[in-house]
Amino acid sequence: MTYLPMSVCLFLLLLSMQSYAEIKTITSPSANILVSLSDEAGIPGYSVQYRGEEIVKHSALGLEFKDTDGFVRNMHIVKSEIHSSNITWVQPWGERKQVRDNHKELSVDFVQNQKPFHHMLVHIKVFDDGIGFRYEVVKQPGLNAVEIVDEKTEFIIPDSEKTTAWWIPGRAPLIDEYLYNTTPLATILRAQTPLTMRLPSGVHMAIHEAALVDYAAMTLLQQKPGQLRADLTPWYDGIRVKTQTPFVSPWRTIHIAPNAIGLLNSNLILNLNEPNKLGDVSWVKPGKYVGIWWGMHLGTMTWSTGPHHGTTTEQAKNYMDFAAKYGFAGVLVEGWNQGWDGNWLANGDKFNFTKATPDFDLAEVTRYGKAKGVKLIGHHETAAFVTNYKNQMAEAYDLYQKMGVAQVKTGYVNDHDKVIRIDAAGIERNEWHDGQFMVNEYLYSVTEAAKRQISIDTHEPIKDTGLRRTYPNWISREGARGQEFNATWSLVANPPEHTVMLPFTRMLGGPMDYTPGIFNLAPFGLNAEHRVKNTLAKELALYVVIYSPIQMAADVIENYFEKDGKTLRPGFQFILDVPTDWEQSRALAGEVGDYVAYARKQRNGDDWFLGAITDENPRKLALKLDFLDPRKRYIAEIYRDGATADWKTNPYDMVIEHKAVKAGDMFNVALAASGGVAVRFKVDK
Ligand code: NOJ
Ligand code: CA
Repeated sequence: MTYLPMSVCLFLLLLSMQSYAEIKTITSPSANILVSLSDEAGIPGYSVQYRGEEIVKHSALGLEFKDTDGFVRNMHIVKSEIHSSNITWVQPWGERKQVRDNHKELSVDFVQNQKPFHHMLVHIKVFDDGIGFRYEVVKQPGLNAVEIVDEKTEFIIPDSEKTTAWWIPGRAPLIDEYLYNTTPLATILRAQTPLTMRLPSGVHMAIHEAALVDYAAMTLLQQKPGQLRADLTPWYDGIRVKTQTPFVSPWRTIHIAPNAIGLLNSNLILNLNEPNKLGDVSWVKPGKYVGIWWGMHLGTMTWSTGPHHGTTTEQAKNYMDFAAKYGFAGVLVEGWNQGWDGNWLANGDKFNFTKATPDFDLAEVTRYGKAKGVKLIGHHETAAFVTNYKNQMAEAYDLYQKMGVAQVKTGYVNDHDKVIRIDAAGIERNEWHDGQFMVNEYLYSVTEAAKRQISIDTHEPIKDTGLRRTYPNWISREGARGQEFNATWSLVANPPEHTVMLPFTRMLGGPMDYTPGIFNLAPFGLNAEHRVKNTLAKELALYVVIYSPIQMAADVIENYFEKDGKTLRPGFQFILDVPTDWEQSRALAGEVGDYVAYARKQRNGDDWFLGAITDENPRKLALKLDFLDPRKRYIAEIYRDGATADWKTNPYDMVIEHKAVKAGDMFNVALAASGGVAVRFKVDK
């Protein structure tokens, strides 16, 4: 008998371990999605099938650490567990009240097969509408403080030349305020998420993340055609994530649906977030608001003091009167505080969040509003000088709380990589808006506000990953090109397809404060670049299509009246009627960037609302009213494009008509070029 030397034995043992790949699989509850996890070649990996089609090819997983071996190679699966859950939970406010969470979960333990034998868990939750997976690194000897220098997660999409992608760039100067590109997937260099795709088979997918907490945002870098890799936004010093065990990553998510509207009718992101941590949140109030805002964007008012200062005591009271008369819950006031005079973009450290301008009396205006049942909506523009904001935050929120302000719009205007913080040594550092530092900073403002029963509407935010479930006072956010891009300062206004892009991309993350409701669609003439490139009916439909629990009637209030200054303009009634909190929501029809139709049922009421919008192409829609209650009769109050309506030449041609309808009827409507339709289905009592 011959004995092999010990080193050869070890080599053979390792070889056998490497060549024998352990594979674990899990399917969604209806078995339409199948995910496999493996340790092939010692590298953690996964693949995804949808109805038998491979939609994510074998892709790597892993985390690379500074100064110590991470979880990238020499890994093998030692154990796995499967759980399942089928529950329904309730949203305090939302696009639907009841949310079904039906999924199966596979948890797999990967261990290094050499010293120091560290291990990491990968959890995969598989729903019928998509998947989420995350890393968990538990406390273990020799692994305490950890710096993640790279995340190895890949998403390898099979046919990238023939897959259409809808996307905006990741880590680019304007944060997430870009127009969406429609290209073959293969042409992307780096994309922000959600990244939406249609495979040649027609299957629609979107890659995003859920529960982004104390971690860096994930952008997607295309390494080879179809090979997308997580590229975490770094700190100023290049480290991606500074953490310590135990920790979890956000969920890496893939929405999966047979068609475009399947993406919209998904609860994936919400279901992957933690339940409400704030307890009783009855103080968080959805609702509609007006504000001293559009005038500044048009250039007729200023944020700074002077002859055209927008937010004066008098003007704020004027807006309060209007809000009270027409039932708006709040009045937003921008430019109420000190710091706007001069170049505020460069002097963000001059913003004072407790001192008003001399011509604005905060106590008086809030007292005035209170007597009329209208709340002031506060505003904190930081210009991304975040240390200046943080230093004043407690006092600023205390003041607002004292004044009965229950909602604050925050702003972080500056280049994506120009967040300015002063570190503990007094050194000024630049961070990205979506690096780990800012992920924490945004959430800090939300939790500090919650302590004072204040809700936050973040502009220039971190992308939405569903944290409203955990922190329901994070009531809305921007995070895409909003209405403001139709004003004077941007180079190009939002094209007709922009709002038809948003539901299938940005909105997969959560609500958006788009601020619709501009009635004077072309303040500089129909041929000007700077105008709203919609028909009036489409502008109304946005209240149903672009979900947000707070919705602004964004125009200056004079524009809601006819020339006589008294008679309300046609269509304003729809803004008054449309709710912002829903019992149910259903996307009825749509294609990414082309058109979309939504039906939503109001909370605590029986009426349904419908909004449908189209891009630059006119189109006819036949929508089945199968969502209506068959036991009820309805009057449809319809705001539709007139026969000659066209966003370019005749955006105001709108027909308002009433029709008796019932469940199961067909609703036929013709949408003009960049047109729309808004409907209230009122129960006929
Ligand atoms: C950008 C916001 O999106 C906009 O709504 C606001 O008016 C300006 N910043 C000023 O804060
Ligand atoms: Ca903005």
